[in-house]
Amino acid sequence: MNLYEAISVRRSVRSYTAEVVSEEKLDAIRRRFRELPNLFGDIETDITIVNGQLYPIGLSRLQAVKAPYYIVFYSEKAPRYQMNMGFLMEQTALFLCSEGFGTCFVGNTNVRKNLRTKGELELTGILAFGITKESHIRKRTEAKRLPLEELCVYKEVPRQWMKQLLQAARLAPSSMNSQPWRFVVYDDRIHIFTKKHRTDQLGRYHWEEVNFGIMFAHIMIAAEEYWLDVDLIRLENISHKNFPNNQYVLSAIMKS
Ligand SMILES: Cc1cc2nc3c(=O)[nH]c(=O)nc-3n(C[C@H](O)[C@H](O)[C@H](O)COP(=O)(O)O)c2cc1C
Repeated sequence: MNLYEAISVRRSVRSYTAEVVSEEKLDAIRRRFRELPNLFGDIETDITIVNGQLYPIGLSRLQAVKAPYYIVFYSEKAPRYQMNMGFLMEQTALFLCSEGFGTCFVGNTNVRKNLRTKGELELTGILAFGITKESHIRKRTEAKRLPLEELCVYKEVPRQWMKQLLQAARLAPSSMNSQPWRFVVYDDRIHIFTKKHRTDQLGRYHWEEVNFGIMFAHIMIAAEEYWLDVDLIRLENISHKNFPNNQYVLSAIMKS
């Protein structure tokens, strides 16, 4: 299974066995992470893999996904570093899925003190993983996601490869399955928006940037699968427009 195939079948797993993962496999995960390209520029990142059975991570039992292993992700604070981290975390989650592991993002990052920073870097996300009790994959049709018709406004008839990119984007996991993205689709570009939030509810949107980074990972993995050269850029002419319900995030532009 490659990362593109994993997009269709990965599911969040919340129930694990205590099976030990070999040091070789843990090293392969670390190596894979180090090879991942950033979404934006030169942002310094790192991970620590915690054996949750030997060193309890400190999360409250009620709120946390209980798993034998956790990857704690760290980043320097830079513009859009959380989006960048979502991009890296989802590629790691898909890699783990392709290797037979179950994974689940952990929204509560209130871990023990010595895990909250790594050198100058700050904890930016946590991924639980391990060998699962039940299957770590599912059929694509079992993913609870909004249909593309609800997510997209089509300005031009999409070609087959565009439909594949949108399907991959649609399948992205998000905190509380919020699926905040909306797409305005042209022949060779997708303008990507998020719903505007009520200012009194901003606390609910803590993971918004990470969610978008996850979805961009799906777009870029699908683009690679179809040999498409895609740029993710912020277009100034759209940034300056005011939309009543949506806020512009980025555009995915196919290079010819
Ligand atoms: C940033 C982020 C944080 C999440 N936090 C939690 C969490 O704390 N506990 C949990 O059970 N699931 C958590 N999830 C998993 C989502 O609930 C899950 O991805 C979504 O419901 C879709 O389900 P699926 O991944 O099985 O398709 C999180 C997902 C993301 C992307």
